[in-house]
Order: sequence, then C-alpha cells, then structure tokens
Amino acid sequence: MLEGKTVNLRVMEKEDLTLFAEWLNKPEVFGEYNPLHQMSRTEVEKISENPHEEKLFIIEKKDGSKIGFIAHFYVLHVAGRQLEIGYSLLPNERGKGYCSEAVKIMADYLFLSKDVGRIQAQTDPRNTGSQKVLEKAGFKKEGTLRKNFFVRGEWRDACLYSILREEWKEPRILTKTASR
Ligand SMILES: CC(C)(COP(=O)(O)OP(=O)(O)OC[C@H]1O[C@@H](n2cnc3c(N)ncnc32)[C@H](O)[C@@H]1OP(=O)(O)O)[C@@H](O)C(=O)NCCC(=O)NCCS
Repeated sequence: MLEGKTVNLRVMEKEDLTLFAEWLNKPEVFGEYNPLHQMSRTEVEKISENPHEEKLFIIEKKDGSKIGFIAHFYVLHVAGRQLEIGYSLLPNERGKGYCSEAVKIMADYLFLSKDVGRIQAQTDPRNTGSQKVLEKAGFKKEGTLRKNFFVRGEWRDACLYSILREEWKEPRILTKTASR
C-alpha cells in the first residue's frame, strides 16, 4: 500500500477485477478524452499479463472507498521503452485534489523503486484537468503528438508530458525509507 494524505494507492487484486471491468465498460469513467472500451472480465484479467507490463493500482480514499485507478506501463519503441502513467477517477470524485495526489505518489514510487530517468504521460490538449494534475506533480509539457490517438471516431492530438529524475529531486509524499 502506498499511503498519501487523502488517498492511498493499492495494487489491484483479482477480487478488484469485477469492479474494474465495470468501470472500464462505463464511458463516463474514462471521460470524453479517452477511447471507449468494452471488455469482458477475462479480457481485463489479461491486461496484467500483457507485454507492456501494465501495473494497475486502485485509488482509495482513507475510508477505503474505491474512487478510481492509476496505472504504470511501458510504451515500446525499437530504440528502447518509456515508462508511462494513466489514470481516471469516478465522476463524482473529481475536482477534489485526489488525482493530483495519486500522481505525486506514483511518481515518488516509480523513482524510488525503478532505475528510470523519466516518467511520461499523454493527454488530450483539451483535457485541462489532466494537464493541471500533471503540472502540479512536476511534469512538464514536451510537445504535441499529432493525431496520436483514435478516440470516438477521430484521430486526436496528444500532449506529451514528462518528469525527469533530476526534476523530481526527492519524494513529495512518500519517504525514502518506507511508505509504511
Ligand atoms: C482528469 C482527472 C484525472 C483529474 O482528476 P481530479 O482528481 O479531478 O483533479 P484534481 O482535483 O487533482 O485537480 C487538479 C487541478 O485541475 C483542475 N481541474 C480538475 N478538473 C478540471 C476540469 N474538468 N477543467 C478544468 N480544471 C480542472 C482542478 O481545479 C485543480 O486545479 P487547482 O489545483 O488549480 O485548483 C479526472 O477529471 C478524470 O478522471 N477525468 C476522466 C478521465 C481522464 O481524463 N483521465 C486522464 C486521461 S490522460
């Protein structure tokens, strides 16, 4: 468990998959800037076995209620691979600072546990909330990937954000010794 001030990140377990599949299949959970998914529970189970090594965490409030998820995964390229994150919150839990905290916790965790020089994220240029979340966690905008995602019937641009290890400097929420 990665403990923050208002939320914790907990590795997704098998028993969470039914709820996660429910979320995946509800367009409102992913919002208007993400692709539509329709996946069976069996397909959802396979996500954890995929070549991108996706690792999913449930975002939980301090009372244990499950309000969304955050994931890290690798984007493969012939010259190497990049560590990327993605996240979504349930609609009624947005705008309360939870995702900003979840991204800070995830950046701390990844820089403390993996020998990586950067973490990246991609977001629709109109997704102001997501861009603010990233900027508050210290990510910087690198540029625009043109027509990078096929979302809801059209090819859309993506803003590429990243944070470098030297920009992160030190944990913002977790500590170097433990997160308990
Ligand atoms: C984008 C998303 C993750 C933001 O999470 P959140 O917990 O609501 O964000 P926070 O409450 O931490 O807000 C961070 C900042 O963004 C602002 N913000 C949040 N949603 C916003 C919106 N829709 N429009 C404009 N600003 C917004 C907040 O006011 C806050 O700014 P402040 O610190 O200056 O007050 C959430 O809206 C969501 O899950 N959206 C649907 C899925 C999605 O788009 N995922 C990201 C894909 S890249």
